[in-house]
Amino acid sequence: MTNVDSASALTSLSFPPGFVWGTATSAFQIEGSTEIGGRSLSIWDVFCRQEGRIADGSDGNEACDHYNRYRDDVALIKELGMHAYRFSISWPRIIPDGVGAVNGEGLDFYDRLVDELLTAGIRPLPTLYHWDLPQAMEDRNGWVNRETAEAFADYAAVVVGRLADRVDTWTTLNEPFVVANHGYVTGEHAPGRTSMADGMAASHHLNLAHGLAGQRIRSLAPDARLAIVINFTPMRPATDIKADLVEAHHQNNLENRWYSDPIAGLGYPDDTADFYEWDRSEIRDGDMEVMSQPIDLLGVNFYSRSTVSADKSYKTPIGTPRNTMGWEIHPPSLGGLLRELHERYPFPSYMITENGAPMPDTVRVDGRIEDEDRLNYIREHLVQVHGAIADGVPVEGYLVWSLFDNFEWAWGYGPRFGIVEVDYETQARIPKKSAGWFSGVAQNNGFDYDTAADPTIHWPKKTAEDAAAEDD
Ligand code: FCB
Repeated sequence: MTNVDSASALTSLSFPPGFVWGTATSAFQIEGSTEIGGRSLSIWDVFCRQEGRIADGSDGNEACDHYNRYRDDVALIKELGMHAYRFSISWPRIIPDGVGAVNGEGLDFYDRLVDELLTAGIRPLPTLYHWDLPQAMEDRNGWVNRETAEAFADYAAVVVGRLADRVDTWTTLNEPFVVANHGYVTGEHAPGRTSMADGMAASHHLNLAHGLAGQRIRSLAPDARLAIVINFTPMRPATDIKADLVEAHHQNNLENRWYSDPIAGLGYPDDTADFYEWDRSEIRDGDMEVMSQPIDLLGVNFYSRSTVSADKSYKTPIGTPRNTMGWEIHPPSLGGLLRELHERYPFPSYMITENGAPMPDTVRVDGRIEDEDRLNYIREHLVQVHGAIADGVPVEGYLVWSLFDNFEWAWGYGPRFGIVEVDYETQARIPKKSAGWFSGVAQNNGFDYDTAADPTIHWPKKTAEDAAAEDD
């Protein structure tokens, strides 16, 4: 699959036939119309109203106005030549009280979206939960309450019942680690709680929710594939002193194994459960079996790696390539991660369900953003995916995060992840240079790679944080 042209150092990287190229978004980050169509409030609507929670004080009320513009948006995805589109379904649109009555208008919206995608020849890849829990469920103790897992399975059954004839792969949750950790332990995400014990309870109920929904999906859509999307951040200790090694070990278990291990039938990492003093009182007989039914696909979200020190003193050296949110850019970590996952787990297939970067987006030519840095980021990660596939890791697709600039959770609208720019004043969508390049990759099922070029020359070398540190 690799042809080397020795004169130019250009290597042609092609991907396996049928490799899936696409883009990803989520409901709360792009839809807007939060109080339209019978939708109730989600925990994110309430969180946004709380002083100081969102960096720019913004909310999801309008976002990218995708709820009204979905037809044009699907036409744009088609124009870009994407094979698949990952989006999420908003639970508060479907079952506004979390449990009970179904809102037909909500279901109709996703029904139309799926039809629009199929008519355009784009494969719909819905995720059932991308963080927008109905506030009504949070009022009953959110993910700390076991009943939320049961309610999620009922909600999943409603959606699957309506769309199963047109959807071939069902993804239960997006990034359960972030839901439990940022939502219940650090409080940086909705619902903004700060208790380790709550985080542990939430994590178990998220795993259970995946399992219970999985059972319903299997029975309602026996031919569909079952998937979950998990984020992975490879950890390395800052030094080889014991405290740092121990810290990195537990962080790795908590962030990278807490969800995939139980699904693979390996249970929770026991020493880490003890380390964080989790009494495991939430685990009931049979739960671990429910959670470990086989999945068909593991969705991998990858952005960065993390360097861990026990006393939290580690600082990324000045000059390290980073995105505008300060996350280190380290493509080889993705290749390493994929090989490690494939060695450790029995999962039959992988898809990169999110990968991308917020960049400064300051260079504009003929009205279009020349985002060489984002393009390079995506390309260097694709080189890693290509290498992992060559080593035998079954990766079936790659989805860029994100199709659009959008509401980046607690960061608000500051960071721009899109390969398509969104002008929030006019809602105009303007494809960036990376979109054109990525579209070509999808069309050719690969790209020419200059092995002699240094990709990092186009990455921001100095972030605002670097500058501040230098000033000190
Ligand atoms: C992931 C989320 C996604 C987006 C990216 C940047 O953690 O799944 O919604 O915010 O990060």
